Amino acid sequence: MGMVKNTAVTALNSLPGKIKNKILRASDLASLVLRDDLHVSSSIRQRERGEFEKWVEQDKRGVALNKEVLGRIVDSYISAKKEQIPVKEAYLPAETWARLLDENWRPFNDAISNRRIDEAADYLSGFFRNEYLSGIWGGQDNFGHFKNLDAVGQANNFARFRQKHLTWRSFLPDTPLSELDIPLIGQPWGYRINEINLHLLSHEYHYEAYNLARLVKDHPRPVVLEIGGGFGGLAYYLKRNNQDITYVGLDLPENIALQTYYLSHSFPESRILTFSGEMEKSIDLETLKIYDFILLPNFCISWFPEESVEVIVNINSFSEMSMATIVEYFKYIDVIGGLYLYHQNLFTGRLDGHYGIPMQEFPELQNFRTVFEANNRWQDEIRSSYKTRENLLIRIDKLKP
Ligand SMILES: C[S@@+](CC[C@H](N)C(=O)[O-])C[C@H]1O[C@@H](n2cnc3c(N)ncnc32)[C@H](O)[C@@H]1O
Repeated sequence: MGMVKNTAVTALNSLPGKIKNKILRASDLASLVLRDDLHVSSSIRQRERGEFEKWVEQDKRGVALNKEVLGRIVDSYISAKKEQIPVKEAYLPAETWARLLDENWRPFNDAISNRRIDEAADYLSGFFRNEYLSGIWGGQDNFGHFKNLDAVGQANNFARFRQKHLTWRSFLPDTPLSELDIPLIGQPWGYRINEINLHLLSHEYHYEAYNLARLVKDHPRPVVLEIGGGFGGLAYYLKRNNQDITYVGLDLPENIALQTYYLSHSFPESRILTFSGEMEKSIDLETLKIYDFILLPNFCISWFPEESVEVIVNINSFSEMSMATIVEYFKYIDVIGGLYLYHQNLFTGRLDGHYGIPMQEFPELQNFRTVFEANNRWQDEIRSSYKTRENLLIRIDKLKP
């Protein structure tokens, strides 16, 4: 069945744009008629009936940009780019990410590299609506597409969002809705439910964060290290609801700049360690305990002590790297990973013709064993051309004989 579906999606993607859109529109209409919220009990459906409202206007209560913090982000980015020059090729962006950074992200990178602070500030403070989001959430013009949906597209988009919401609710029946509320940073957009602001991925980021925190809930000061965390959407929910966790973000310098902006403005009182060329090339256990966020370029992965990180996480990211990069990270995961690896990545090639390595081709980890694997519960099985699976692995020597 899965193979039939994949073949159909590949065939659909190879059709001329107009014909493909007509078919998708017909399927939108059909799914609107046929859709039902099968998996959710009627009591939950009743309770979550509140006001759902599409939200595209800029919210005037947006968080003001802190110029001093921005100055530090710029310094850190410039020194990371300098240090990046001699690093191994495995740490450099490949394929889609190399192109995205060179094309879509170029204006922002130029502004930051040349210390044009006001320009960088403009881009960052509206990143949900400009090309800073490309590559993290789909392709170009995500916001424009959402804003200009016609009546059918709008009804379908809303139905999918509501279905996600009900799925989230079915997992977390007692969690207050307010836990989903996002900060007004970067001019976000999406839906409001009873005055709570959500973007389109709030449910999955929140639920992933909830699950990761649950893995280490008895640990006094757990460290969660994410490789390829994008703008910091998962990190936001993780920290907001679990202040005792130290979050480590390793990513390309460009995304680290964005993450540092997002997280420092979301949590202005937090202790954040960022990169500088003068740092000692190691992170000791004490440092891991005292910071709220440690946000560093990817080539710092070798700086962490053995088994110093309780959870390593990667969402929709390894699959977008070169095989040499994946091999490099897996080598270090085996060393620094203390307990769990959670990752969600492609299990088939991408069906839209873009670059992507399926997880079956990832190298074996010597010290970890898979204990759970399932299709990503959030994906739209029919429409998605980026089909992923969730995987939880445990360090073998932590399993009792
Ligand atoms: C599709 S985005 C996913 C972002 C985030 N995990 C999310 O779900 O919103 C892919 C992420 O992988 C990162 N990435 C790409 N190549 C990388 C590399 N060689 N090393 C580290 N991160 C990389 C990108 O910078 C980006 O943050």
